[in-house]
Amino acid sequence: MTFAEAEKMLASCGQEHVLEYWKNLSKSERAVLLEQISTIDPKSIKACRAALGKSVSQVDTSKGKAPKVAVLKGAALKRAIAAGEKELSSGRVAALLVAGGQGSRLGYDGPKGCYSIGPVTGAPLFYFHARKILARSIRYGAAIPFYVMTSEANNADTVRCFEENDYFGLDPENVFFFTQGMWPGMTEDGRIILDKIGHIFMSPDGHGGLLAALKRSGALDDMKKRGIKSVFFFQVDNPLVEIADPAFIGHHILEKSEYSLKLCAKRDPFEKVGMPMLVGDRYRMVEYTEMTEEQCLRKKNGKLYYLYGSPAIHVFDRDFLAREAAKAMPLHLAYKKISYVKDGKVVKPDSPNGYKFEKFIFDVLPNAKRAAFLAFDQKDEFSPVKNAEGSDSPETCRADMQDKWRRQLAEGGIIVPPSLPIEIDPVYALDKADILRTGLVLEADML
Ligand code: UTP
Repeated sequence: MTFAEAEKMLASCGQEHVLEYWKNLSKSERAVLLEQISTIDPKSIKACRAALGKSVSQVDTSKGKAPKVAVLKGAALKRAIAAGEKELSSGRVAALLVAGGQGSRLGYDGPKGCYSIGPVTGAPLFYFHARKILARSIRYGAAIPFYVMTSEANNADTVRCFEENDYFGLDPENVFFFTQGMWPGMTEDGRIILDKIGHIFMSPDGHGGLLAALKRSGALDDMKKRGIKSVFFFQVDNPLVEIADPAFIGHHILEKSEYSLKLCAKRDPFEKVGMPMLVGDRYRMVEYTEMTEEQCLRKKNGKLYYLYGSPAIHVFDRDFLAREAAKAMPLHLAYKKISYVKDGKVVKPDSPNGYKFEKFIFDVLPNAKRAAFLAFDQKDEFSPVKNAEGSDSPETCRADMQDKWRRQLAEGGIIVPPSLPIEIDPVYALDKADILRTGLVLEADML
């Protein structure tokens, strides 16, 4: 992009001030600024300005109902597993990881996926995800292409982590990295914020940025070329997730669903999770902040009105993703402390002064012609690494990973004392069935 093109584009959306310090910039600083400006779409700037001061949710949650959530057992479980296994062996399933977040609560300097979580080996989060995909594809004799969304800030480090670890055993041909968009921060009056002289403050556009990024990068075309039908979506911070779980894939297929969600019972009535709700004839994801106190409470029979929350484990139909990728998504605003330039000097504010904009993937739920919900046990599949300490921290996650392996081994009669650290490579044993088959070997190793 040339200076003249940048000037014209910025004028078209009322952001001329971005070039205010042009004369003070070195050649390389000018190149960086032009590069930043070239990624900005004037339409998005107008959408951001329009979103300022508005709440995204227009839904009257008092009219909502809890969705019907399947709890699969016996013959229904077997049917779902068989349908999922058929999809997996036919090579129609892909895994899609969103790993573009900033991980600010964890405070780790690098992509969260590179964070060391293995209780014994210290292996990174990416290791557990990639090894599960490899194990699943070996079991079903068909590749599960792995699409990894990064951001501009962490893409190079993410790719390096995979390369340095030989893609954790996966064929690089089946791993597809793509980057999400970055959006500039804005003041309350809709001006783009410069966080340094000649440098725009930009942040990733949220996990909902996935749809536009899938399209832009060619990942959707790649899925089509490979004959993918079902896309298993998960987040980087949960090493307990059962990636491409056949029962979930099968349930999605049997329900002819476009967007399926795994849900788990809330740990307490006011747990801070999103909850799906049926409002009119559409399902929506409702944030805990949008619920009334009464809606969070128990009915007379002691059960919660809204028992289930979403840990962001989904299956999408590929055609649905393609359809939604062509549409605009609502913007969510976060009011944050953002450094800014005043009279040629950088100021670090003490209180929030500007907005970051994000899109959330679950905002496409109302657009699904059919949706399905499947219950699972939280302790088996969800223990995210969000905070540096306390709840949902590396410490609680490592403990939960080890408790799961211990429970599985205990079913095979092998008791591992809590004092003994334990870790199992998913390629060695992916699940309880594998662990029971290999249990005696483990026992011999330990003695
Ligand atoms: P979180 O909402 O936990 O955000 O992301 P985060 O950025 O990882 O952490 P904090 O809030 O700064 O502490 C949930 C999932 O969505 C991905 C994250 O990488 C994580 O897998 N995500 C989030 C993106 O891929 N892009 C984003 O812009 C935001």
